[in-house]
Amino acid sequence: MNAQEMYEKMKARLDKVVPDVELRIKAELAAQIVDLKKEKNAVILGHNYMEPALFYSIPDFTGDSLDLSRKAAQTDKDVIVFCGVRFMAETAKILNPSKTVLLPSEKAGCSLAASITAADVRALKARFPGVPVVTYVNTYADVKAESDICCTSSNAAAVVESLHAETVIFLPDEYLARNVARETGKHIIFPANGTTNFADTGLDYQLIGWHGRCEVHEKFTLGDIQAVRAQFPDVVILSHPECSPEVVAASDFSGSTNAMIRYVQQTKAAHFLVLTECAMGDNIAAANPEKDMLRLCMVRCPHMNTITLEDTLKALQLNRYVIEIPEDIRRRARTAVERMIAIG
Ligand code: 13P
Ligand code: SF4
Repeated sequence: MNAQEMYEKMKARLDKVVPDVELRIKAELAAQIVDLKKEKNAVILGHNYMEPALFYSIPDFTGDSLDLSRKAAQTDKDVIVFCGVRFMAETAKILNPSKTVLLPSEKAGCSLAASITAADVRALKARFPGVPVVTYVNTYADVKAESDICCTSSNAAAVVESLHAETVIFLPDEYLARNVARETGKHIIFPANGTTNFADTGLDYQLIGWHGRCEVHEKFTLGDIQAVRAQFPDVVILSHPECSPEVVAASDFSGSTNAMIRYVQQTKAAHFLVLTECAMGDNIAAANPEKDMLRLCMVRCPHMNTITLEDTLKALQLNRYVIEIPEDIRRRARTAVERMIAIG
């Protein structure tokens, strides 16, 4: 595809969202990336948080983390370029180890993945022997390797319930854990708070959580929702389950990034407010020009934002940054991720 064709394709979708001058520059880069992608027999996976010009130009598949891990597992291309963050690229490598997996930015981390180590999980397992461990996919491979099963925001409650266990360790997102506890009617404790021997406390608990937070979603408050509802009484508010339980309870809908996109597509409302990384609000607005999307864009994910068209082109040109996972860790992590995928 030449740059002019790419520009026209992007303009058809992004006319009202991205200024023309930016589109022209980005179309040049996107056209080069698409050519190189073919030459290298690569597939590009783009998370829903990618900025609009990237999201609507180069990916072969876009989606939430569950969706993209399935796509990574199924691809027969030689190279997987992951336009997302490191834990997502690692999940691709865990599931499809014979492929070269590239992450265009070395800085694309995640505050949740950084909040817990494999040693932390081992310590919890020693403290609560025999209790199954569920880890959110927003963790690194060595943490996944210590767990029984993974989950994403779209299947967390179903994964916990599938275990039919009296008690479950659920790591590392405090808010997702509290939201799952609420949804499944379970009591939750946070042993990292300093309590040492829970067996003696007489507390009735079924979930054991950790104090990880998403640095984007923790910023939304109940006050934000109240202020927006006061100004726009007929607004429909959606939030990601990494938001606090107060924010989720005050929202009209909460779900994974894919679930929120679907909800806006299928719902009629005077205004929508999507409480998540704000590039996704732009992407929804571009696909639904007839819908009024309010923006509360005071937060961007600093990690997702490091993935640019420039770096994606460099990734393909220079074969960087290659994701490697030691084989014993990868095998154990794969069991946990595949158990999750089997649940759906
Ligand atoms: P999803 O799995 O809902 O796409 O979420 C990924 C993520 O990082 C949310 O902050
Ligand atoms: Fe991690 Fe939050 Fe960024 Fe998602 S939005 S990658 S959970 S820091």
